[in-house]
Amino acid sequence: MEKDRSSHVLFFPVPSQGHMNPMIKLAELLALSGFRITFLNSHHNHERLLKFTNMAAHFERYPGFEFDTITDGLPRDHPRTGHWFLEMYEEAPEMKTKHSLRDMLVNISPPVDCLIVDAFLGFALDVAGELGIPIICFRTSSPCCFWTSYYIPDMIQAGELPINGSEYMDRLITTVPGMETHFRCRDLPSYCRAPDMEDAFVKLVVKQTRKCVQANALILNTAEELDGPILSQIRTRCPNVYAIGPINALLKSRVNAKHGQSYDHFSNTLWQEDKSCISWLDKQPDRSVTYACFGSITSMSREQLIELWYGLVNSKSKFLLVVRPNSVIGEDGEGEDDLKAHFNKNKDQGYIIDWAPQEAVLNHPAIGGFLTHSGWNSTLEGVAAGVPMICWPYFADQQVNSRVVSEVWKIGLDMKDVCDRKILEKMVNDVMVDRKEEFAKAAAEMAKLTYQSVSVGGSSYCNLDRLIEDIKEMSL
Ligand code: UDX
Repeated sequence: MEKDRSSHVLFFPVPSQGHMNPMIKLAELLALSGFRITFLNSHHNHERLLKFTNMAAHFERYPGFEFDTITDGLPRDHPRTGHWFLEMYEEAPEMKTKHSLRDMLVNISPPVDCLIVDAFLGFALDVAGELGIPIICFRTSSPCCFWTSYYIPDMIQAGELPINGSEYMDRLITTVPGMETHFRCRDLPSYCRAPDMEDAFVKLVVKQTRKCVQANALILNTAEELDGPILSQIRTRCPNVYAIGPINALLKSRVNAKHGQSYDHFSNTLWQEDKSCISWLDKQPDRSVTYACFGSITSMSREQLIELWYGLVNSKSKFLLVVRPNSVIGEDGEGEDDLKAHFNKNKDQGYIIDWAPQEAVLNHPAIGGFLTHSGWNSTLEGVAAGVPMICWPYFADQQVNSRVVSEVWKIGLDMKDVCDRKILEKMVNDVMVDRKEEFAKAAAEMAKLTYQSVSVGGSSYCNLDRLIEDIKEMSL
């Protein structure tokens, strides 16, 4: 029997920038199609979003789009810096959030017809199972990361993990189907480097990865054109996969189709964006600037920041550098402020800011290259903007993403495991000057493929339609 109201979908992301971004974009995509949405933020992030964004005003345009908040399980006065969110997965905080979710789902009106949760919140599957609510997991990191993580137990059994010393780092992996030709031990997600596979984080990743395939379906932020072979492999274990990426580009495409180009896009940001960099970019020639930014979690030593800085300064390119507050760890207790003040004297060549309006920057005509930590959102945003990349991966999926960029898509270079000014200088010159046309052409072709995938009739566009219809069906 048809319901007399629209389907109600509850979104529940891991409360970190890189996980929330694709989730809120999918929530908006479903709202555009008339769904009722409840988007669950942690109390902490909700306050920051209200402070730094126009969230309330933006989502007011969608009748039935509501935000609610939930505990992340940690005390209110917890500093929540660095890798703080890993603490959420400890037993006591996880149970606290699980109980809050259960209470919320029992009491919410109208009832929730379908849950879309971060694939790292496995406890939500237990709650959904108990209450009989359909649940879809959204794994926000890359398909290659998902697939290698799924195969960790097999790699352990085959003796490929743990990696038995540095001499094995360049050996090709053999146990992960579909990844035998390009991926070395060095390119596995960073947690695969743990000396002991009983490591708590390794166990957590394996547990959550194996558990999320029990959901009704799995959503991945990619396109068939970008990750087709790996998606085919994943479908052997998890038949119902929706590849609906790059989700930032898909949202733009759908919004433009419905409302035209003048629609203001929502910037889901947990830091204050410094838009002054756009005026600086406006003054630079086309494709002359390297944009250097390392996401929302990466931290680095003063020495590493100095190497990166000199690599950029000594190159033949201008640059825009983002140094997120509190992201530099000084052994002597000094942070990044003195370095930033020193660097900022050289404004002609380089411009430094705390936090960028990243999508606007990547789509600015002055940008010719992207020095990135290879977080999956940044990677896809770079792909969609057609910008070649220099990858300096920090942790988790970034090690495997950077290999995809350099060896599978061939739209950039991988500076994995080194931080050396000379190497960076050479890579920046390769991407921005010496091999500029080669990389620019490859990146433009990749951007064209993604554009096709998110346009009417394209693979991601159609996969989203299928997801929409399937959720409606689940809600009957
Ligand atoms: C984390 C993991 O590190 C990443 O590998 C995983 O895929 C998702 O979770 P993060 O490190 O923050 O995310 O990187 P990324 O995935 O690139 O997400 C960062 C987001 O913040 C991007 O959407 C980016 O546009 C945005 N951002 C970053 C800004 O808007 N401004 C900035 O200055 C920096």
